[in-house]
Amino acid sequence: MDIVIRDALPADLPGVLAIYNDAVLNTTAIWNEQPVDLANRQAWYTARQAQAYPILVAVDAAGQVLGYSSFGDWRPFEGFRHTVEHSVYVRADQRGRGLGPALMRALIERARACDKHIMVAAIESGNIASVALHERLGFIITGQMPQVGTKFGRWLDLTFMQLDLSPGAAAPASQAPSPPSL
Ligand SMILES: CC(C)(COP(=O)(O)OP(=O)(O)OC[C@H]1O[C@@H](n2cnc3c(N)ncnc32)[C@H](O)[C@@H]1OP(=O)(O)O)[C@@H](O)C(=O)NCCC(=O)NCCS
Repeated sequence: MDIVIRDALPADLPGVLAIYNDAVLNTTAIWNEQPVDLANRQAWYTARQAQAYPILVAVDAAGQVLGYSSFGDWRPFEGFRHTVEHSVYVRADQRGRGLGPALMRALIERARACDKHIMVAAIESGNIASVALHERLGFIITGQMPQVGTKFGRWLDLTFMQLDLSPGAAAPASQAPSPPSL
């Protein structure tokens, strides 16, 4: 198996787009029903680049994109700056070959290198392959949210899992101008 995992290049985006849109149309891994165009993925790539956040791709010897993983900020408030939420997608005909775990292990190292403390996975509760993958990587279930989504005419439940990237790490110094008083 001649597959490498590396940072995505703009030329990889059509392959990423095809995997993304297949997940939109055929899975409950992502809760959109409308496919997106290449400009959408280019804007996503540019936004990730601007934050120095990785998009990793698994590519074969012919340069075909077989899967990708990435993370972004979990919530847009500065207190959440050490927490990221990630996504991982493997092309439908390449699943069950270990690409998902490989993309995740590489992404976890990149999150540590970005000084992140917690990695969050938001998984449709029926996605047994993804829950099992994350459990094998050390993620634990920390939240269950019934019926917070809908797709294909039914309610979807969300399972939150998280990984501690730096166990025991002290919290960063406060950025507030002065200590809060009661
Ligand atoms: C979840 C996902 C990333 C796992 O990646 P992967 O490369 O298939 O991971 P693995 O090779 O470790 O296989 C995971 C499990 O998939 C199952 N599997 C095996 N062959 C499979 C196939 N052909 N198709 C689908 N699933 C298969 C197996 O149960 C396997 O577990 P096992 O190792 O105990 O046999 C991938 O299935 C995927 O992209 N799914 C759609 C998108 C998605 O759900 N992303 C995660 C959103 S939170």
